Amino acid sequence: APAAAAAPAARGVHHASRAAIAARHLRRDRWWLTPAATAAGLLAFVAYSTWRAFAGDHYYAAPYVSPFYSPCLAANCVDMNGGADWQLVGSWWRLSPALLILIFPLGFRLTCYYYRKAYYRGFWASPPACAVPEPHARYSGETRFPLILQNVHRYFFYFAVLVAGVLTFDAVLAFRDERGAWGHMGLGTLVLLANIVLIWAYTLSCHSCRHIVGGRLRTFSKHPVRYRMWGWVSALNARHMLLAWASLVSVAVADLYVYLVSSGAFADPRLF
Ligand code: FES
Repeated sequence: APAAAAAPAARGVHHASRAAIAARHLRRDRWWLTPAATAAGLLAFVAYSTWRAFAGDHYYAAPYVSPFYSPCLAANCVDMNGGADWQLVGSWWRLSPALLILIFPLGFRLTCYYYRKAYYRGFWASPPACAVPEPHARYSGETRFPLILQNVHRYFFYFAVLVAGVLTFDAVLAFRDERGAWGHMGLGTLVLLANIVLIWAYTLSCHSCRHIVGGRLRTFSKHPVRYRMWGWVSALNARHMLLAWASLVSVAVADLYVYLVSSGAFADPRLF
């Protein structure tokens, strides 16, 4: 069985069918910078969001609610004055209410085409960069368990749209003052607004969204509305990586802002 006897070294870029080049790769630039910076950025977010998600406090400073805790589904949520506190989960839930809802944005981002590239490169070096062979002897892509589960991304997209809808509601409610009267605008209102704009831009730039909007059509000219929408989504889609990072930063900043106001470290400046 000659194929079974093939040495691991004969695989991949060292396969007999490839040019025999001794160097591991031919890149002369600092190709490791991007995966290293990506891994550092993702780790920083994971550390911050883990602390905040488990904290279970300082997520509401009337009229602002942290995007990590919205919608707040547990009976142990603080009273949000008509905000996104739909307490569907009974008092048996004792942990932080963020843990109930964060599964959805987490699943959406974890299975996102861009984040997959980011963490495959940043953490698994599979491959670390373009034209740099990966160190692993075997490569099966996403064809097997567990990575084949990445296909659930399209379903997480629908949940992400629902969550973005709730965060939009929160941003609208941020135009009320702490007593519930409309016509307020504080710095926090702008923070929540900027965040929801970036969340929507990221969500709508999703590759699954692009397929839902314009995929499976034989003739664009017979579907002018979908074609036009597909053009918009495609323009956003070209910036998907940028929007992934911008919305990751904005969601952390929005949470941090609410934390600082709620914990009394900072007073929300009122703009009018
Ligand atoms: Fe990134 Fe869908 S591909 S969110």
